[in-house]
Amino acid sequence: MSDFWRGTTALVTGASRGLGQHFAESLAGRGAALVLTARSADPLELLATRLRTGGTTVTVLPVDLTRPGGPEALVDEVARRRLVIDHLVNNAGQGPPGRFHELPVTVALATVDLNVRAMTALAARFLPGMVARGRGGVLNIASNAGWQGLSWLPVYSGSKAYVLTWSEAVWIGLRGTGVRCCCCSPGPVDTAFFEANRFQFRPPRWTRQHPAAVVRRALRAYRRDACHVLPHPAFRLLAWSTRLVPRVVAARLGAWYGAPPDGP
Ligand SMILES: NC(=O)c1ccc[n+]([C@@H]2O[C@H](COP(=O)([O-])OP(=O)(O)OC[C@H]3O[C@@H](n4cnc5c(N)ncnc54)[C@H](OP(=O)(O)O)[C@@H]3O)[C@@H](O)[C@H]2O)c1
Repeated sequence: MSDFWRGTTALVTGASRGLGQHFAESLAGRGAALVLTARSADPLELLATRLRTGGTTVTVLPVDLTRPGGPEALVDEVARRRLVIDHLVNNAGQGPPGRFHELPVTVALATVDLNVRAMTALAARFLPGMVARGRGGVLNIASNAGWQGLSWLPVYSGSKAYVLTWSEAVWIGLRGTGVRCCCCSPGPVDTAFFEANRFQFRPPRWTRQHPAAVVRRALRAYRRDACHVLPHPAFRLLAWSTRLVPRVVAARLGAWYGAPPDGP
């Protein structure tokens, strides 16, 4: 077990399934105490019960992070319970498919609330304490989709571009404080993300990474204070290639490689 994690507490958002659940399991295995959140209390409680049998201290705080005041209520409850968050895993996210003019405005704005506002609000409330203590940090989950505009995932790719750029800026700003900020941009991952967001198609099986592999690479990058990590080898090349061509070419390529022939 690593000394880096032992005796620390990690808050994982979106821990009820998928990558968040894997983050929780991996961090418990590394000796961290956990605060788990998502909207669904039952899967969080099931996960907590399982992790507690392994000796992990787990607190479950269900919240809808898109609700006005949701992130703030979560932070206040953490403070009320006198929990000190050393690591914030900003993982909860959603990605409704469809061209922008076809997306209901409520869905578009809820995506911004979750993928942008909630992540920013949580980091803003927890980072000052981390800096005062001179340790800990934030691990933000972006996406390969944030490296170029995707016509069939417009708000998602825009929100993840924010996460990527914001994380880089925060990482630079934290130099010399002992606190880290790492951004993970997964390619397609084998989770319920596509069902949860009502995709009519799935990325081909060969492109989908196991969530455990993504989590392993993300935690390793975070631990060594990397600015960002692209865990999928093929999609890493794709991401870097978007930096070599004009943005409009990257957007055209994004529409071509991502979308199914008959639209999302
Ligand atoms: N899967 C992929 O291919 C992929 C690729 C690149 C990046 N990512 C990113 O990875 C992260 C995790 O995705 P995943 O694949 O694990 O997706 P997932 O299986 O759909 O899990 C999303 C998690 O976020 C929680 N969540 C959703 N809406 C919420 C809300 N309003 N308030 C609080 N929690 C909420 C969900 O729990 P409840 O429903 O219980 O609230 C769930 O725990 C996301 O940021 C996603 O954008 C995923």
